[in-house]
Amino acid sequence: DKGNYRHFMAKEIHEQPEVVGRTLSHFLDLSTGTVSLPFELPVDAATLPRLTISACGTAFMAGLVASYWFERIARLPVEIEVASEFRYREPPMEKGGLMLLISQSGETADTLASLRYAKAQGQKILSIVNVPTSTMARESDVAALTLAGPEIGVASTKAFTCQLALLACLALAFAKARGTIDAKEEARLVAELTAVPGLIAEALKREPQVELLARDLSKARDVLYLGRGTSYPLALEGALKLKEISYIHAEGYAAGELKHGPIALVDSDLPVIVLAPRDHVFEKTLSNVQEVAARNGRIILISEPEAAHELGVPAEVIALPKMAPDFSALVYAVPVQLLAYHTAVFMGKDADQPRNLAKSVTVE
Ligand code: M6R
Repeated sequence: DKGNYRHFMAKEIHEQPEVVGRTLSHFLDLSTGTVSLPFELPVDAATLPRLTISACGTAFMAGLVASYWFERIARLPVEIEVASEFRYREPPMEKGGLMLLISQSGETADTLASLRYAKAQGQKILSIVNVPTSTMARESDVAALTLAGPEIGVASTKAFTCQLALLACLALAFAKARGTIDAKEEARLVAELTAVPGLIAEALKREPQVELLARDLSKARDVLYLGRGTSYPLALEGALKLKEISYIHAEGYAAGELKHGPIALVDSDLPVIVLAPRDHVFEKTLSNVQEVAARNGRIILISEPEAAHELGVPAEVIALPKMAPDFSALVYAVPVQLLAYHTAVFMGKDADQPRNLAKSVTVE
């Protein structure tokens, strides 16, 4: 049931404050401000030498965002790769390691094959799935459930942010076990996560503005998405979403890579969408945007209200509320999803059933 929405995708985008909140409250103890997983980790988190992650599509982007959290907050080295490469690369894996798979459906062929490969290599298996009865849930040592509810739209939206929510909690649990955060820092980070559903609700209020920008975007032949840190995987996700449902060619780049090639594409016809939360690489991102402006690129800046002023060059700005930087990806995902959705709708495309795509990819 689509309720009052035109598409499941719109409904699912708007469900995010609720389902992300639900997922968070499952892995955090909000009354004490601590992380509390409803399961035992299948390895000793304190001594684990590295974490291997594999997934496909949007679930892979969630893993990539989380790799920054695991490394930065828990000081846990991460190896991450798309499942279609991982399974055939046949990487050697040290026994007793931990393999993390991420999948909405829990049935994706390549991700499942990676799970089985890792198991044969003596790894413990932790999977993050949205379908509790799925094959991946069954074959894992621990299946952690996102509480997104059924996702009908082919484009993954609420499953993605719920995966991020769960991964953030997992990163905190590892950090705690490894002693890289103390109780005070834990409380601070838990409070930041607790604020996320409200911030997502705020971000959803930018929809009318995003809709106007989408009209413009629908005329573009190519679109570039840029970001640094966790906004880099989000740039990849933005490009994937736009391609998937509007069929406009889009690419995501790490903003610092711009001058190593893609800047050659920049002219007044190329919309460049920049994801710039106020984090430790904010200034670096802004200077990349100034390089785009110097080549007459059309800039759409997703950032905090004062950023436009600091940028000092003309840009359309989607202003999100001020927030702590650690988990901004959960909030910045929203305008990215809305932009893709409204562009597709404006172009008359079926956002729920894009051509050539299936919700669950059970063949490789
Ligand atoms: O069910 P899964 O999470 O394993 O699916 C993985 C991808 O097929 C999926 O995320 C796909 O990229 C989406 N259509 C993206 O919106």
